[in-house]
Amino acid sequence: MTKTAGLFELDNRVVLITGGASGIGAGIATTLAAAGATVVIADIDEDGAERQAEALVSAGYRAGALPLDLSDETSIVETCKQVVTRHGTPWALVNNAGLQDRELLLEGTAEEWDRMNRVNARGPFLMTREIARAMVSQGAGGRIINIASAALRGSIVQGLVPYTASKGALLGLSRATAFELAEHHITVNTVLPGGVPTPGAIAAKGPPALGPAQRSLPLGLCEPADIAAAVLFFASPAAGRVTNQVLAVDGGFSVT
Ligand SMILES: NC(=O)c1ccc[n+]([C@@H]2O[C@H](COP(=O)([O-])OP(=O)(O)OC[C@H]3O[C@@H](n4cnc5c(N)ncnc54)[C@H](O)[C@@H]3O)[C@@H](O)[C@H]2O)c1
Repeated sequence: MTKTAGLFELDNRVVLITGGASGIGAGIATTLAAAGATVVIADIDEDGAERQAEALVSAGYRAGALPLDLSDETSIVETCKQVVTRHGTPWALVNNAGLQDRELLLEGTAEEWDRMNRVNARGPFLMTREIARAMVSQGAGGRIINIASAALRGSIVQGLVPYTASKGALLGLSRATAFELAEHHITVNTVLPGGVPTPGAIAAKGPPALGPAQRSLPLGLCEPADIAAAVLFFASPAAGRVTNQVLAVDGGFSVT
């Protein structure tokens, strides 16, 4: 009889999660730690990352924390070096951290475009380059999971021009890296979360969040654990032949 128990286990595998101090990233960290991974939380909020890692360790899981500023290449290179030195080459990288502030197109500024794209698109590019280099040199394959947004499928509100463009760049990054890394057995997949009431989403600055994303959802509003379940699938042994795929976890927005 075929056993399915190990399909979603991450025992002894190191997983690096950006932005794991809060919201969706914290949910991903908890789910992947519960699946057996050693979770490394890298965040600009150093205290928050430490607190989150300590909470996981107190719950009996394996976790660590590292400082990371995704807007700074030097910080990215150093954090990726540290994760390899302290924990070993990651099995998986989850590019989760992102900014979500809003700015209307007609009031748009190059500064806000650059700030958003620097963290949401350029940061994941540099993270992917650094961790993929380590994965390729280790030769054991790996998983890269990018957290984009259901805004790319129309679950949008006003003020999301820089944000949605940055997530479009992340989706393009996913596709192109999936192609280049397939020969190394490194898969690259994307999750598109719908609205999740996280600290970052609630505190996002900008004009009122008016638009289709406010529709009532047949399956209800998502929680971080819903997004984390999709990430677990892509990170798991079960998904070894799944790459360049996009999974929306959006409470059923597309049927509204
Ligand atoms: N919450 C939603 O409704 C929603 C919907 C779709 C997509 N997303 C995406 O999910 C991801 C997580 O969002 P969230 O709602 O949990 O947000 P959040 O603000 O609650 O958490 C984001 C984390 O990223 C960290 N971070 C921010 N800038 C950073 C930087 N320069 N370097 C390193 N870390 C940095 C923050 O400190 C924080 O811990 C984001 O990419 C977001 O765009 C969220």
